[in-house]
Amino acid sequence: MNRSIVHLVLAAALACTGSAFAQAPIVIKFSHVVAHDTPKGKGAERFKELAEKATNGRVKVEVYPNSTLYKDKEELEALQLGAVQMLAPSLAKFGPLGVKEFEVFDLPYIFPSKDVLYRVTEGPIGKNLFKKLESKGITGLAYWDNGFKVMSANKPLRTPADFKGLKMRIQSSKVLDAQFRALGANPQVMAFSEVYQALQTGVVDGTENTPSNIYTQKMHEVQTNLTMSNHGYIGYAVIVNKKFWDGLPPDIRTALEGAMKDATKYTNAIAQQENDQAMEGIKKAGKTTIYQLNDAQREEWRKAMLPVQKEMAGRIGADLVNSVNKESAALGFK
Ligand code: LMR
Repeated sequence: MNRSIVHLVLAAALACTGSAFAQAPIVIKFSHVVAHDTPKGKGAERFKELAEKATNGRVKVEVYPNSTLYKDKEELEALQLGAVQMLAPSLAKFGPLGVKEFEVFDLPYIFPSKDVLYRVTEGPIGKNLFKKLESKGITGLAYWDNGFKVMSANKPLRTPADFKGLKMRIQSSKVLDAQFRALGANPQVMAFSEVYQALQTGVVDGTENTPSNIYTQKMHEVQTNLTMSNHGYIGYAVIVNKKFWDGLPPDIRTALEGAMKDATKYTNAIAQQENDQAMEGIKKAGKTTIYQLNDAQREEWRKAMLPVQKEMAGRIGADLVNSVNKESAALGFK
């Protein structure tokens, strides 16, 4: 083959590879542990839709719900290794990664309203918390809402004394451990995907979660009693592998940031409604007695769990706990 033909063949081969590359979409594997029909599940699907549209198909988002790819702890490892690119773990699951500060979100009674929560997640506190992830190879993109927690067991939970000796499933947060110890219960860390079976077989006696998570995992079918306590909060940090994110073409990253902003608005707008509907579903199923605390009982629960804020300030950072409480005060809460 003479030289010019060789050049032509090489140029053609390069052009082919070039266009093949141009057409191969960037794949974002988005793994999570909850059902599709939840605030996070729907948020992930909305992000997929918006991201694929905003990038004209140059990005493909594959959503893997319900722990189909990884369970709680494994999914964070998989993100760091680059086996998946995006997650939205509960804020209660960052302790094992060595980022204890996120446990501020788990403190009982830290958020008297969603408005206080949004001041935290959308303001400097939320931004500073995301900075703590950078050294772990993770970039924080957004905070997604779920809701306030209820308590469940196979006996009525009306006063703190009712928790005595109960084995309660918790997420991997030392604050949640302290919370249940303050109630005289025995907390047990367990992956979300294992909770239904553990409740069914009596490995644990009860749990806390949002109505949406309880209903979509059918936990209410194996719990005779549920108390509307709203004692704590569950929300998410949408996170990406930092190397992957930083390596994206800038126009793609900008488009994805826009998609994430809109998906976040959507998720936070539907979260309360999803939880209200789930509560209706639990009531309709007729298998669980729902209990509303009266004012005196609510005060008793608060008195039992509030000291956890002080007890865990050393772990989380007293300044951080104070700064969150200041956001409450700014909105007129004591
Ligand atoms: C749990 O593990 O209880 C939940 O926080 C799971 C989730 O992602 O909502």
